[in-house]
Amino acid sequence: TKSKLEELERRNQEALLGGGEERIKAQHAKGKLTARERIDQLLDEGTFQEFDRFVVHRCHDFDMDKQKIPGDGVVTGFGKIDGRPVFLFSQDFTVFGGSLSGPFGEKVCKIMDLAVKAGAPVIGLNDSGGARIQEGVVSLASYGEIFRRNVLSSGVVPQISAIMGPCAGGAVYSPAITDFIFMVDQNSYMHITGPQVIKTVTGEDVTSETVGGAKVHNTKSGVAQFMAKDGKECLAQVRQLLSYLPSNWEQKPPYLATGDDPRRTCPELDQIIPDNPKSPYNMKQLIKTVVDQGTFFEAAKHWAKNMITAFARMGGNAVGIVANNPMHMAGCLDIDASRKCARFVRFCDAFNIPVVTFVDVPGFLPGVQQEYGGIITHGSKVIYAYCEATVPLITIITRKAYGGAYDVMGSKHHGADVNFAFPTAEIAVMGPEGAVNIVFRKQLNDATDKAAAYAELVADYRKNIASPYRAAELGYIDEIIMPHSTRAKVIQALEALKGKRTFRPVRRHGNVPL
Ligand code: COA
Repeated sequence: TKSKLEELERRNQEALLGGGEERIKAQHAKGKLTARERIDQLLDEGTFQEFDRFVVHRCHDFDMDKQKIPGDGVVTGFGKIDGRPVFLFSQDFTVFGGSLSGPFGEKVCKIMDLAVKAGAPVIGLNDSGGARIQEGVVSLASYGEIFRRNVLSSGVVPQISAIMGPCAGGAVYSPAITDFIFMVDQNSYMHITGPQVIKTVTGEDVTSETVGGAKVHNTKSGVAQFMAKDGKECLAQVRQLLSYLPSNWEQKPPYLATGDDPRRTCPELDQIIPDNPKSPYNMKQLIKTVVDQGTFFEAAKHWAKNMITAFARMGGNAVGIVANNPMHMAGCLDIDASRKCARFVRFCDAFNIPVVTFVDVPGFLPGVQQEYGGIITHGSKVIYAYCEATVPLITIITRKAYGGAYDVMGSKHHGADVNFAFPTAEIAVMGPEGAVNIVFRKQLNDATDKAAAYAELVADYRKNIASPYRAAELGYIDEIIMPHSTRAKVIQALEALKGKRTFRPVRRHGNVPL
């Protein structure tokens, strides 16, 4: 027996070393953690149960039968984060560059299937040279099996991807289908085609970093939603995100006592909206004041900054926050902001997270680029997301809500449950300047002092038309509230809506404009 136990010990030690000491050193020299170190950082201490440690590839081409490494380039299993189960795979760059073989894919699929059965999140830590070239189409088949599982798990359990090294070619599509992508600055990249192919085809000179680094995907493309300075911070962010999420679609997000009084008033909000309707103010500060102290956690912070999407807690319960940001492009809705908002609302709705929307939107961004880019299609995604949502929806209009954008941003007409407005709200078909020029064109032409007539008409329109009272008279706004009472009002509404149920027509599925 002793020798058998020793054999197990020897085999385990061999497997734990992955591609060996030299390659581990090389990994560290690049400022990267190994696959196993990442798992240790991510999970609660001592909770990791590994699967398939001795799996090896079955490839004979290219003399591959002479090089077999236990585990075959990916470490898989389950463990706990904040005491709750998660399933994960961690690609091991020290073994064949973390490239994906048939058995590698089988290991990942096994974990994904179990996660769905167990109703627990799947976390993928990516660091891979892509399809294992020696395996040919077997490797491509494996990718396909993973993608299909990503799709079928979508909306069932949260799926999270951390990109902690290379992720190129077909490999990008598994993360792309997951709910959130985290990237490590300067040490990770995602692209469909790399610098060499791009140079050949388009002549553009790029590096992996400039075409697909963390900054690019967090600021320009919107492919990634979180960016960390190193692997350790990245994994801490993953843990933080999970704290707001339920384990699966049938559960509510976990409650966490924050010690912040749900009835706390926020007197500073009574002064936050500037007298000049054209002046911006700090919407993030407004939100931070309203939610439980220190719980504001932004997603896609660096992309489409005219739209804010964040998780937070109110009275200890997780909420999704959506807000226009008057500090960027005056909070206009454009293609990127629409996509950001719609995807976030749909995520919250899939996982029982109520959505609280703060509105200050002058309208859609005008321009040829926007029209050619399909703002009509992308803007409609926001409508679709709110209208199909069945979670509690609470909307607060802090200032502007003009035109179609009024409807789009969580209006009563799109199914919001409780709609508040500040007394500073301006709700109308268009802003005073535009409206007066159209409605009073003749009057303005005839006026002797055009500037004085214009100023008077604008002031009159702002007071009588672009106010919250018209909408309140019609019941489109449930209450015009004192800004200082926002927190208490929203928490009260969230409590009232806890048992919200909605019924939808039977159908195969809707056809969201894509
Ligand atoms: N298939 C098989 N082996 C691969 C691989 C792949 N797709 N990608 C990397 N490897 C192996 C390398 O051969 C190398 O093996 P070795 O240590 O025995 O020499 C090891 O992984 C490390 O790769 P290396 O190229 O030395 O690392 P790097 O950090 O310099 O570069 C990449 C990383 C990902 C840029 C580079 O390996 C690469 O371009 N890989 C191919 C990517 C690709 O085209 N994939 C297929 C399409 S999805």
